[in-house]
Formats: sequence, structure tokens, C-alpha cells
Amino acid sequence: MSDGGQRTYGPLGTTLVIIPTYNEAENIGLIVGRVRAAVPEAHVLVADDNSPDGTGKLADELASGDDQVHVLHRKGKEGLGAAYLAGFAWGLEKGYGVLVEMDADGSHQPEELPRLLTALTGADLVLGSRWVPGGRVVNWPKSREFLSRGGSTYSRLMLNVPIRDVTGGYRAFRRETLEGLGLDEVASAGYCFQVDLARRAVRKGFRVVEVPITFVERELGDSKMSKDIVVEALWRVTQWGLRERAAKLAGKRPA
Ligand code: GDD
Ligand code: MN
Repeated sequence: MSDGGQRTYGPLGTTLVIIPTYNEAENIGLIVGRVRAAVPEAHVLVADDNSPDGTGKLADELASGDDQVHVLHRKGKEGLGAAYLAGFAWGLEKGYGVLVEMDADGSHQPEELPRLLTALTGADLVLGSRWVPGGRVVNWPKSREFLSRGGSTYSRLMLNVPIRDVTGGYRAFRRETLEGLGLDEVASAGYCFQVDLARRAVRKGFRVVEVPITFVERELGDSKMSKDIVVEALWRVTQWGLRERAAKLAGKRPA
């Protein structure tokens, strides 16, 4: 947790829950309904990458019956990071005060969102965390838990960020935090996008708070996790870490 000192925080403003989707037809109706029930004042933005299974069309149907549901149609599959960047730009432009990241598959339970938002009253960024006391994962194979814990530990040590769940994707940002992260420079396409934003937040001195969550593995549809996503994450995290170390050394011993 990076300590922002004796900061005072303004009111939160309206919340936008951004849900990136790629082939989530079985899940989209359920998740949007759960968000609307759990946090009725929040708006929802579905950021769909032209899913072949018609998720975008289903989202349009939900939006046509609800003023608080919106859809961002993207051309094709460009990765979770790109979908979130487009969603953030949309939400910031419309003036939302809080922007939330949430998976479509039910792994991030909307019923836990009020706790994240409460924590955000005294923080710049709240991370839903599987790997702090009270956090847990339901129905994950050991192999996936190993990958996630390993990825988080490697990132924490390599990047020197005091966060237990660096790769998690259930997060609430104040708009000012996103505006301060330098999103224009973010190139991460896959799930390392989450690591990228977390390290930027810590480096910029934002107060980052982890709140325990229960992550429930999806029951419907398929994970989009792939070898390419793991390779990109490993490659980028290693590069960021080495670059920071080099910069530190250069700073200490000017040429
Ligand atoms: N628009 C769009 N484009 N959405 C995508 C893409 C894409 O290229 N790839 C994945 N998504 C969406 C999925 O449809 C889902 O809503 C969400 O992103 C998460 O994808 P999953 O495939 O369900 O991820 P996971 O369960 O394997 O991974 C979880 O753990 C990762 C590592 O901790 C998620 O919580 C990730 O956010 C997290 O980084
Ligand atoms: Mn999932």
C-alpha cells in the first residue's frame, strides 16, 4: 500500500462499471443484471470486441431497455487492455467520477462492489484482492492458482510494488487517478495491462488499497487466458523491472 499521507478525498461522483467482453453471450445478461441490482445508481459500459457469438447484440438489447446501460462496439479482438483504455476514455469524456473494471463472467461479484467503493472514499485506487487475508478463489484448478500467485509474486519483486494481487482485474479508480496515470503511454494489450496500471499508480504516489474479494471461477463460457498473454506479461514485467533498475543505477553513478 503506498501511503498518500494526510490527503483528503472529495466525493466520489457517479460510478461507471466497465465490462470488457469477448464471447460472453451466456454471461452478459446475468452480470449486467447483478451490477444493476447490487449498485443501482451505477452505470454500466459493455466494451465488446465484435464477439462472434453475438454478445454485442445482446448488450444492445440490454441498453435499449435501460438508460444506465451503454455499449461500446469495437472492431475486433484487440485484448483486454485496449478494451479498457477505450472504455476509460469513453467514461472520462462523459464525466464519470469513478471507473470500475469488472470481468463479465461472474468471477468479480457485483455484490462486493459496495465494499470496494467504500474503500475508495479514502483512496485513489482500490484493488479487489485474492491474495490478502480474507481474499480467496473458488473453483480454480491448482495450476491456475499457481500461475496467478507466481505472476503476482514475480511482479511484486521485479517491480518493487507493495501489492499482493498485482494481476487482479476487479478495481475501482477515481477519475483523477486515471487522468494521472499517463494512459497514452500504455501499450500492454493482454492481462499485464493490470500490472502496468498498478505499477504506474504506485510510482505516481497514489494511495492504493487492497480489499479482499472472493473470486469465483466462471461456470459458463471459456477463459481467454492464453500462452501469448502469459508470454507478453512475463516479457513486459521483466523489461519494466530491468529498465527501472538501470535507471536507478544511472541516477546513482552519473556518467
Ligand atoms: N473486449 C475484450 N477484448 N474483452 C476481453 C478480451 C479482449 O480481447 N479478452 C478477455 N476479455 C474479457 C472477457 O470476456 C472477460 O469479461 C474478461 O475480459 C476476463 O477474461 P477471462 O478470460 O475470464 O479472464 P480470466 O478469468 O482467465 O482471468 C482473470 O484473471 C486475470 C489474472 O489474474 C481476470 O480477472 C483478469 O482480469 C485477470 O488479469
Ligand atoms: Mn474469467
